[in-house]
Amino acid sequence: MWPFEKPQVTIGPMRSDHAAFAAKLHSASFAHGWSEDEIRRMLSNSGCVGCVAVEPKSRKPLGFVLAQCAADEAEILTIAVAANARKLGVGQRLLRHEIPTLVAKGVRSLFLEVDRNNQVALKLYNKFGFTEVGQRPGYYRLADGTTATALILRATIG
Ligand SMILES: CC(C)(COP(=O)(O)OP(=O)(O)OC[C@H]1O[C@@H](n2cnc3c(N)ncnc32)[C@H](O)[C@@H]1OP(=O)(O)O)[C@@H](O)C(=O)NCCC(=O)NCCS
Repeated sequence: MWPFEKPQVTIGPMRSDHAAFAAKLHSASFAHGWSEDEIRRMLSNSGCVGCVAVEPKSRKPLGFVLAQCAADEAEILTIAVAANARKLGVGQRLLRHEIPTLVAKGVRSLFLEVDRNNQVALKLYNKFGFTEVGQRPGYYRLADGTTATALILRATIG
C-alpha cells in the first residue's frame, strides 16, 4: 500500500458510524470477531473511549482502538490495524492518541490481555511501558480448536 513511505494518518475519536469498518477489521484480525451491533453497544457504554486512524486523502479508516474506563482504571478492549497498513506505525499512533485521552478522563492504570504468542502486539505494548501482571492459561480459543494463554499487562499512565 505504502511501499516507500509511512502512511499519513489522522487519528480521531471513534463514532458509531465506524462500527461497520471496525467489525470487519476485527473479524479479519481475530479468531472470534465482534459484530457491528456489539461494537455499537460498546461505544454506547459510558466510559468507552475509542480512536480511529484514517488515511486523510481517501478518508479510509485503517485501524482502531477501543478502551473501557472504570474510575481510575481502564482496559484496552481491542486494537487492530488493517493488514496492508501494519508495521508502519499506525498502532503506535493509535496508542499515542488513546492514552492521553484516557489520562484526561482520570485513568491512571491501563490493563489489557494479549495472546502470549502475539509477538507484534507484545512489542508494541512494551514500547508503551506495559508489564506482565498475570496470566490466564487457555483463555483464547483459536480457530484450529487449540487454546492459548493470555498475558495480563498493565501500564501506569497517569
Ligand atoms: C498489533 C497491531 C495492532 C500493531 O499495529 P501496527 O500498526 O502493525 O504496529 P506498529 O507499526 O505501530 O508497530 C509497533 C511496533 O511493533 C513491532 N512490529 C510491528 N510489526 C511487526 C512485525 N510484523 N514483526 C515484528 N515486530 C513488529 C515493531 O517493534 C514496531 O515498532 P518499530 O517502530 O520499532 O518498528 C497490528 O499488528 C494488528 O492489528 N494485529 C492484529 C490484531 C492484534 O493482534 N491486535 C492486538 C491484540 S492484543
